[in-house]
Parts: sequence; structure tokens; C-alpha cells
Amino acid sequence: MTLALASILPQVTQAAGLDVAAVAKGLLYFGTATDNPELTDTAYVAGLKNTDDFGQITPGNSQRNTFAFTKGDMIADLAASNGQQLTCHTLVWHSQLPNWGIGSWTNETLLAAMKNQITNVVTHYKGQCYAWDVVNEALNEDGSYRDSVFYQHIGPAYIPIAFATAAAADPDTKLYYNDYSLVYAGAKATAVQNIVKLVQSYGARIDGVGLQDHLIVGNAPSQSAQASNLAAFTALGVEVAITELDIRLTLPATDALLAQQSTDYRNTVAACV
Ligand SMILES: *[C@@H]1O[C@H](CO)[C@@H](O)[C@H](O)[C@H]1NC(C)=O
Repeated sequence: MTLALASILPQVTQAAGLDVAAVAKGLLYFGTATDNPELTDTAYVAGLKNTDDFGQITPGNSQRNTFAFTKGDMIADLAASNGQQLTCHTLVWHSQLPNWGIGSWTNETLLAAMKNQITNVVTHYKGQCYAWDVVNEALNEDGSYRDSVFYQHIGPAYIPIAFATAAAADPDTKLYYNDYSLVYAGAKATAVQNIVKLVQSYGARIDGVGLQDHLIVGNAPSQSAQASNLAAFTALGVEVAITELDIRLTLPATDALLAQQSTDYRNTVAACV
């Protein structure tokens, strides 16, 4: 990845870190995700703490579940002591639901539980989060709404209500919708743009869209295709972040595959620039 970024930033020496290079190009940050089980690996943590490479951290799993904040706090504290931005993740998701997410609900009782969850968690981390992933993965591949417990009982209104609740709990954090398979223009990307408009139509604030890009070497879209796809989101008045980026290849790795992988990583980062 250092090589890939250096190749689009010829004026920055290859020794410059990823975040240093990204910020020099006008991007907000270059970051990484982490999780509690990894924090005992000292070599890994030394790399994680290198703020030349990583200006931002997202906790992979530890800010969900219950109002047990210990694990989430560990990563928030680590980011703070390193002077790194924190992207907080995630408030409303159909997966890994805490016990309150299972049960017999009505619209009113589930809305109350969802609002209580959002208000408690956002308030706990108030002032620490550059951004919150407010709603995560609400759509199917074809752009229709996922039949989650939230959608079943509340309907699409759960999304704008979640954003309004998060905004009330922390007016200063950026509020994101986050999902995968958005790297290509198409039904799902269009549906997320419609979610942005839905939230805005409720008079609620949405500041960004996060794209989880899971790509395959040689099949990743071109820089220009990705750039115009990202522009369709920013045209709605929101920022964008590539919140996950992995471009996998089938082993054994060859020089040709590694060169293509480098080009593919470069194209995604260059599309952001
Ligand atoms: C649930 O209640 C909310 C808030 O009153 C409303 O916006 C939404 O349309 C309701 N959903 C259903 C399925 O009735």
C-alpha cells in the first residue's frame, strides 16, 4: 500500500507514511481498523501507533453489544493517546444484536429501545468520535431494504430517526451511513443515495457515506469509474470514506498479480484524491 500511494504522489518520498501522504493531498486521513484481541501483539501495536501511517482508527467490534464500554474504551483511549482520529462503529446494525434486539416488538417499543441505545452509546463517546457509523448495512445487494428487525417493525423511518437521535446526542460528530458493494454505480449505490435523500427529507443530518470495498485483483473498477461513483454521493452534500479496503488474490502470489494488486489499490486511493 505504501508503494501504491507513493506512485500517485511522486512529490512525496516513499518514506512518507500513508496518512502524511494522504493529508498532503488534501484528504482527511488514512486510517485502519483494529480490535481488542490484536492489542497484545507488540509488533502490530507499534505499527498501529505509527501516526505517519494511520491518522485514524475504527474499533472493529468493541463498541457494540451492551452498555459495557470497557473494550470500546480501550481502543478509544489508544487512539486518543496516539493522537489519532476515531471513527466510531456502529449504532444500528442487523447483525450481532444485543439481547434487546431479539424479542417481540412493536413499532413504539423498538423505536424507544433503539433511541435509548443510540443516546447512551453516543453520549458515552461524546467528543471522542470524528464520525459515527449510525446505520450499517441496511440494504440487500439489489438495493431493497434488508428485512431486519428494525425494518420489520419501524419501516424505513428507522433510518432518519436513528440519524436524528444520534445528532441530538452529539451535535459535533459526523454521522455516516455505511455499507458494502457500493464501489460500482448501480442499484445498491443508487439506493444509498436515496437513503441520504430520505434522511435529508426528514430534516435530519447525514454527513457521510462509508464504502466497504472488498475487491478482487484484476476485477476492481478503474480510477475514473470509482471517482465518478464517489462524486454521485458527494453531489448530495455528504463526504465519503472508504471504510474497508481489501483486494484479494488467489495464491500463489506472482509478480504479475502483486503488480496488479498494487495498481488496484492505487486506483481506489487515487479516486479519493
Ligand atoms: C413507526 O413509527 C414512526 C414514528 O412515529 C413512523 O415514522 C413510522 O412510519 C412507523 N412505522 C410503521 C411501519 O408504522
